[in-house]
Amino acid sequence: MWDYTDKVMDHFLNPRNVGEIEHPDGVGEVGSLACGDALKLTFRLGSDGRIADAKFKTFGCASAIASSSVLTEIIKGMTIEEASMVTNKEIADYLGGLPEQKMHCSVMGREALEAAIENYHSGGRVKHELKGKVVCTCFGVTEEEIERVVQENNLTTVEQVTNYCKAGGGCGGCKGEIEKIIERVQGAKAKVVHAKPQKPAKLTNIQKIQLVQETINTQIRPMLRADGGDIELIDIDGNKVMVALRGMCAQCKVAEFTLKDVVQAKLREFVSDELVVEEIKE
Ligand code: FES
Repeated sequence: MWDYTDKVMDHFLNPRNVGEIEHPDGVGEVGSLACGDALKLTFRLGSDGRIADAKFKTFGCASAIASSSVLTEIIKGMTIEEASMVTNKEIADYLGGLPEQKMHCSVMGREALEAAIENYHSGGRVKHELKGKVVCTCFGVTEEEIERVVQENNLTTVEQVTNYCKAGGGCGGCKGEIEKIIERVQGAKAKVVHAKPQKPAKLTNIQKIQLVQETINTQIRPMLRADGGDIELIDIDGNKVMVALRGMCAQCKVAEFTLKDVVQAKLREFVSDELVVEEIKE
């Protein structure tokens, strides 16, 4: 169970401004239902040029709902220029803080707001789009976005970056580049953590089963649960690891990616390079 503040629980259980404004002045969308997190934000300006009303629809966890709800509260009464300066940190601070693994929900709110403001200015783009060089291809996160979360939230480790924008949370192939970005943004004070796991040289069957289960519990499950999914170890036969995906992961269109680039990659990193993961559909 996540350690949520009273304010997060209040906005989760009694979300403000749920819905969609008809004929809005700005519309912004971010995320995808297929991946478990999605947010649509609409706002309308009053005659004084300030945001008179804002509504949201979201599909996600408690912190996604709470972040979206407070975002609508925060921006009401603001000018467009003021709203364009709202950071994800302000959203999280307004909630009295979010668990670090859930900070990406506050980033999603800020991205939806940016898309809505851009839609207001140009009348065009509604959906948050990638700008600049993509660093993490697993989660579609750009260099610009990583620089921004590092800067605005004073992040110093790759793990923190993963918690804030998901970059690095899949195959891990982008971690080196994320480290370089942190170092560039933070300068000499950056302390980049990238402990390489020590894989045991040889495992008995019992040790292998225990280590696979431990890796699922500590490395894989928290990542999937952050997106409303889960995983269960069904059986191990030699190097074949059979698992069942649960929750959002079971219906996810990118389940094959999750199995190979997240589950199998983590098990190979922490247990053995020879493991092959297969999904059991029940
Ligand atoms: S490329 Fe970033 S986690 Fe795979």
